[in-house]
Amino acid sequence: MTRDRETLVLEREELSPGIFSLTLSAGEDFLREAGPGRFVQVEVSPGPFPLVRRPFTVNRTDAGSFRIVFEVKGRGTDELSHLTEGARLRVLGPLGSGYRLLPGRWLLIGGGMGAAGFPCLADRIDCGLVLLGASSASRLLEVGGFSSMCATEDGSRGARGLVTDLLDRVRWDDFSNVALCGPVAMMKAVAGRLPDAILEVTQVSAEARMGCGWGACEGCSIPASGGGYLKCCSDGPVVPATSIDWDLWEGV
Ligand SMILES: Cc1cc2nc3c(=O)[nH]c(=O)nc-3n(C[C@H](O)[C@H](O)[C@H](O)COP(=O)(O)OP(=O)(O)OC[C@H]3O[C@@H](n4cnc5c(N)ncnc54)[C@H](O)[C@@H]3O)c2cc1C
Ligand code: FES
Repeated sequence: MTRDRETLVLEREELSPGIFSLTLSAGEDFLREAGPGRFVQVEVSPGPFPLVRRPFTVNRTDAGSFRIVFEVKGRGTDELSHLTEGARLRVLGPLGSGYRLLPGRWLLIGGGMGAAGFPCLADRIDCGLVLLGASSASRLLEVGGFSSMCATEDGSRGARGLVTDLLDRVRWDDFSNVALCGPVAMMKAVAGRLPDAILEVTQVSAEARMGCGWGACEGCSIPASGGGYLKCCSDGPVVPATSIDWDLWEGV
């Protein structure tokens, strides 16, 4: 059951400059429902500012805890990065619809912090290959234990360039499912290069600015392919790639 709960910060780690993980206490009911791709709305401050909670994907679950991984972007993530062990944090979730865990081999394609949800996913599927892209090695979120290829813009890890440059090396026939997550510009570039049959089996973890996180405020709209809008928080965040109007979607 989705509910607002108080969690305890069990561990805080700086994974690389400006990228942090927080391991938060969780009960059985939360862990049962925190499937891959679902997210939590985290209260940054009990005071009036920042008023709106910030969304983070569940990165991993463990016995009695779950982890979020985030990059410091603004006031909210900066405040979260200074929390220490023993701090209390209000968390609403798990929210949204996650990945459909379909049988068959999966290809995971992530850009920057878009890979934050992949460890949770990769552990529960037949993960054949992970493609990662980031500006530099320190921005790459690796998914340990799986075959992977990466590209960095400055060439500090893997191929020099963008994650789209890796697509030519993929043997598409090997895969029945694709998970795609990252900045909207990156996802647009990838979606535009996927073979039609692969786009049909691609699930996108979408990004939008969020207000409530549970479908009430309409602050998180994404243009839908059939006209109208999808709500990122309640129709998604994970939606079929074919349900998005990629030309109209401008992202955060
Ligand atoms: C479903 C979902 C899951 C997410 N999971 C993660 C995660 O696991 N790890 C992580 O690092 N980030 C994640 N994000 C993005 C994260 O929520 C934002 O980076 C965060 O809310 C920024 O808050 P802030 O107060 O620090 O920055 P703000 O001061 O609010 O904004 C600073 C800048 O951050 C960027 N930003 C703000 N909101 C978003 C957003 N919703 N999505 C993308 N960029 C944004 C914009 O460029 C903005 O200019 C997720 C977003 C969504 C919608
Ligand atoms: S964030 Fe309020 S409807 Fe999606």
